[in-house]
Amino acid sequence: MVDFSLTPDQESLRDLARKFARGEMAPHAAECDKTSRFPEEIYRKAHEVGLMNLNVPTEFGGSGLGLFEQCLIVEELAYACGGMTTSIIANCLALEPILLGATPEQQRRWLAPFCAEYHLASFCLTEPSGGSDAGALRTRARKDGDGYVLDGEKCFITNAPNASLYTVFATLDPELRTKGITAFVVPREAKGVTAGKDEEKMGHRASSTGTVRFEGVRVPAADRIGAEGEGFSIAMRTLDQTRTPIGALATGIAQAALDLAAGYALKRVTFGKPIAEHEAIQIKLANMAQAVRAARLLTWNSAWTIDAGGRGTLESSIAKCFASDAALHVADEAIQTFGGYGYMKEYPVEKLLRDAKLTQIYEGANEIQRTVIARELLRGYA
Ligand code: CAA
Repeated sequence: MVDFSLTPDQESLRDLARKFARGEMAPHAAECDKTSRFPEEIYRKAHEVGLMNLNVPTEFGGSGLGLFEQCLIVEELAYACGGMTTSIIANCLALEPILLGATPEQQRRWLAPFCAEYHLASFCLTEPSGGSDAGALRTRARKDGDGYVLDGEKCFITNAPNASLYTVFATLDPELRTKGITAFVVPREAKGVTAGKDEEKMGHRASSTGTVRFEGVRVPAADRIGAEGEGFSIAMRTLDQTRTPIGALATGIAQAALDLAAGYALKRVTFGKPIAEHEAIQIKLANMAQAVRAARLLTWNSAWTIDAGGRGTLESSIAKCFASDAALHVADEAIQTFGGYGYMKEYPVEKLLRDAKLTQIYEGANEIQRTVIARELLRGYA
């Protein structure tokens, strides 16, 4: 029997995240958005209470949670601030290649000290010349004695300006396309690594995003993740895992937009009655509520599929794509419900629209998700 009720453990995780989100994050969300401040003190507290490194097994100091539990947490955090949530969960993205492809010795070496204290890591795949076409990346890894030398530049990297560890995808030979891509772990302090300035963004302004340059960076063979040429598969399998929590993040933003719109509609009076009594607004709220619930259910379905051992490529792309489109639509309708006030920065709904927009772009633009969905779908008909 399919059962959508939460276990007592899942409920207490969700309550912990809700308490943290509403008590620690929400009071600072508007200020961090306005000033584009990276609230490191909040991220340190998230680490302290076990809301960071959610996917890392407890033996290495992480939270060791399944994807379903991660999604419960991420939705609660994103309800308070999408940008802060992106920075809090970026370690899950950056460390997943290590969980998927590293040896037990490498996992112990990198994950245990990393999780023991607050540290940030970044996932370095995207490049200026072609973000969506990950197989065409140009960062070179040249063999050098018993190691490699990396040269190239990554862009739009979450937490890059603040991270101390990078998981980096580079090619041994661009002619080989996806078959030449290899994954490495590179510490920030390695000679030749330069993290660029924090980019000025439309939304998610409490998170940091930047470039990372690698100029003649020497990486020992012991810091390669997986085999030579295995990097593309590691990157794709990582994204299969991490796109589902992006569905949860988008759902959190959408739920916040719906709650604000409904609350406002009950108070705001026009033509002698609250606008919630006008059919035009009721239809909006009804459609928003359907979108939020469908986004959550698709996200839960994807998390459940992957936790049950499925690959989840199709389900995670569907969840990420649907929930992010829903979040943008629901945030837009929330602004429309607020009318002119919704367009003003003094009210919280316009931030939700700006934050929702990124969820359609990062971790694979929704055009790529639709490509993945169509490919996976058609496989079943061939
Ligand atoms: N799992 C395992 N293997 C996979 C896979 C998956 N999900 N997807 C593809 N592969 C394998 C294929 O089976 C194939 O293997 P063989 O050669 O052995 O047959 C190989 O990888 C190549 O696959 P494709 O031919 O499908 O490759 P492609 O070049 O056509 O590209 C793509 C596929 C899906 C479009 C890929 O380029 C892609 O996902 N692009 C988007 C990248 C992305 O999401 N970037 C976001 C980065 S994270 C971020 O946003 C930053 C941040 O900090 C938040």
